[in-house]
Amino acid sequence: MHIIAPSILAANFLRLEDDINTINKSEAEYLHVDVMDGVFVPNISFGQNIVKFMSSACNKIIDVHLMIVEPEKYVQSFRDAGADIISVHAEATVHLHRLIGQIKETGAKAGVALNPHTTTQSLENVLEDLDQVVLMSVNPGFGGQKFIYQTLKKIEELDNTRAKRNLNFKIEIDGGVGLQNAEKILQAGADILVAGSSVFKSENPIETIKKLKLIGQEQDAKF
Ligand code: DX5
Ligand code: ZN
Repeated sequence: MHIIAPSILAANFLRLEDDINTINKSEAEYLHVDVMDGVFVPNISFGQNIVKFMSSACNKIIDVHLMIVEPEKYVQSFRDAGADIISVHAEATVHLHRLIGQIKETGAKAGVALNPHTTTQSLENVLEDLDQVVLMSVNPGFGGQKFIYQTLKKIEELDNTRAKRNLNFKIEIDGGVGLQNAEKILQAGADILVAGSSVFKSENPIETIKKLKLIGQEQDAKF
């Protein structure tokens, strides 16, 4: 069964606690937390202090997505702020293998995120060390962008590699995901759907999460 990870970036920051409580009441398993530094991506979101407030108010798994340069400097502080999973960008470090080890040493689960242009083959030598691979289906930096359909091919490739090598990392898809494309994404082999605008900008976020959760279930039930 797939996992829903609403992205808090699309919440209303004037009433963050209310929006977190909405997620608490929903069927989502994760809270996806986008950290942007204005250098790795052309936008700045929030830092450890805000993440600490978010994690203390939230009863879901805290899935931190670091879109920052020099992530090795900040892994421990985001763990201390309540991150359960920490994903770093492969493009943001020259020592990815070491950094994955560093994340795991904090006790967090380790993820690596790939920009749309980065090949899944580039992770070949670290896949066994990973708990999740985040495939960016938009260029990171902003919520509300259009899903890049080329991502579907990358999901299939990664899912095939996983099966061939008998590995068990999860595949998370981040950017432009909603009710209109979730089925295709799941069919391609994804396990975790990050959904920002499609959840928070909908009339009833709890209901939208429920619908995202139900996608593909009818087929599942046949087996
Ligand atoms: C993009 C972020 C995404 C974003 C997704 O840089 O990593 O997590 O919040 O937002 P939507 O679902 O609106 O594309
Ligand atoms: Zn993200």
